[in-house]
Amino acid sequence: MSVNYHTPVMLKETIDLLNVRYGKTYVDCTLGGGGHAKAILQVLGSGGWVLGIDQDESAIEAARIRLSEHQNIRCVKDNFRNLKKILSGPVDGILLDLGVSSHQIDAAERGFSIREDGPLDMRMDCSLPLTAETIVDHYDQEELARIFREYGEERFAGRVAKGIILARGTGDIKTTLQLKTIIEKAIPTWKKRESVTRIFQALRIAVNEELRSLETILKDAVDLLRPGGRLVVISYHSLEDRLVKHSLRQAKEEKKLKVLTKKPLTPSEAEIASNARARSAKLRAGERL
Ligand SMILES: C[S@@+](CC[C@H](N)C(=O)[O-])C[C@H]1O[C@@H](n2cnc3c(N)ncnc32)[C@H](O)[C@@H]1O
Repeated sequence: MSVNYHTPVMLKETIDLLNVRYGKTYVDCTLGGGGHAKAILQVLGSGGWVLGIDQDESAIEAARIRLSEHQNIRCVKDNFRNLKKILSGPVDGILLDLGVSSHQIDAAERGFSIREDGPLDMRMDCSLPLTAETIVDHYDQEELARIFREYGEERFAGRVAKGIILARGTGDIKTTLQLKTIIEKAIPTWKKRESVTRIFQALRIAVNEELRSLETILKDAVDLLRPGGRLVVISYHSLEDRLVKHSLRQAKEEKKLKVLTKKPLTPSEAEIASNARARSAKLRAGERL
């Protein structure tokens, strides 16, 4: 099987800001395709070790294969919000490259794509019961509107929620393209694609409780670093970036952290041209005092 590996987003900036050094220990909380982890391992050589975490079993399996030549990585299937329980001691660097991976988006059967038809699933951890279909089929109009407004920042949240409730009367909403059609009908402007993207984002965040997990890890990560240890976070939408910004600021006020990025770093034009996914990336980093 040939596997298409995507270049990790903001790779050089990530490795530089993590301050990867021989003999040190790092946690990649979002292992995904293992791209960032591989680069960390290459800099580390045989000294030090890496713990890779992902809540997606198939990401863990793929990363284990890709990184099999390295002896000093352990891959764990878990939610990064449990990091405090997973680690037995402090580490020198923690990386978060948030959101979904291109592997997850490209697999139509996972239900993340707005381009290809698939089941309304959107779970990163397929062992959990809540899917996007459950939300779309069972949540009431008010709750749907809240999700679309809060997690998608969608101005037509109420209309889309109403459209879904009406469509339920004509049969189940089972697939991504069925949902896309319903959203498009509900949006009164020609900017339908942006709304579809925002509604899908909102559902994904709700299914995976993404903001709750992020809040927990941001709260814990600083305390899990050795003095001089680095936290690097790459986020892809304003809700995430706001949480990261506030949490770094708070740790700074508590005199626990030096913020290394006054403004978030963004990818170069060249990176965006070669990797569309990098377009919305924002990288923030801090150093444990
Ligand atoms: C953007 S991808 C990471 C790509 C990776 N940096 C690389 O170079 O290939 C994000 C990954 O984080 C995982 N993920 C997202 N939220 C998570 C969470 N709360 N706990 C564990 N893994 C999570 C997703 O399953 C996905 O595989």
